[in-house]
Amino acid sequence: MSGKMNGVRACVFDAYGTLFNVHAPVASMAGRIGPQADQVSRLWRTKQLEYTWLRSLMQAHAPFWQVTGEALDYSLAAHGIEDKGLRDELMQLYLHLEAYPDAVACLKALKAAGFTTGILSNGSPDMLSAAVRSAGLEAHLDHVLSIEDVGIYKPDPRVYQLAVDRTGVGDASEICFVSANTWDAQAAKSFGFQVARINRFGLPDDNIPGRPDMLLDSLEQLPAAVS
Ligand code: 2OP
Repeated sequence: MSGKMNGVRACVFDAYGTLFNVHAPVASMAGRIGPQADQVSRLWRTKQLEYTWLRSLMQAHAPFWQVTGEALDYSLAAHGIEDKGLRDELMQLYLHLEAYPDAVACLKALKAAGFTTGILSNGSPDMLSAAVRSAGLEAHLDHVLSIEDVGIYKPDPRVYQLAVDRTGVGDASEICFVSANTWDAQAAKSFGFQVARINRFGLPDDNIPGRPDMLLDSLEQLPAAVS
């Protein structure tokens, strides 16, 4: 599915899974982790997101850095891996995640075309600034927004409202929200953004409210879709 959007003034991106490759840390240590490395990474990501949703519903908020560590601890234990050095190394790698290869060119092209650009993420402010800096994205982003300013995780609508308030656009429909996470993209559409889902993993939409306006194969396709 492709298409074009109209009236977009700002492009706001999800961070983990969309701009940053959350599976890069484990992939870079697969030799040390062994044949179950892929499952360790997948369970780490699944638990990280589950814990954000559970903590929001339990009204027991903790910052994403803590949640990310607790999710990693679960996944390592579930795979019978007890190695504090490995755990600390994986967390450090998470702090300095690689950006996907299509991220910089996309942000550069959007800025050159006059769009406001930003990140809206579950990430704690210090996590996001470390990742943005190490991935070389700083010069191409006007806003880096953390849910810590709201105190609750995505997909609570108050998180998406933060992007409207901080970018200063008149209406949510003037923001193109970009995410590779199905549930995030669909919740953002329900909130009122125009939405492009980057279909990195060839997944169908989730059976929850909200359908993206378009599915793109990569971030490279975004500038043409919003111009
Ligand atoms: C983010 O908020 C959903 O983890 C994803 O960056």
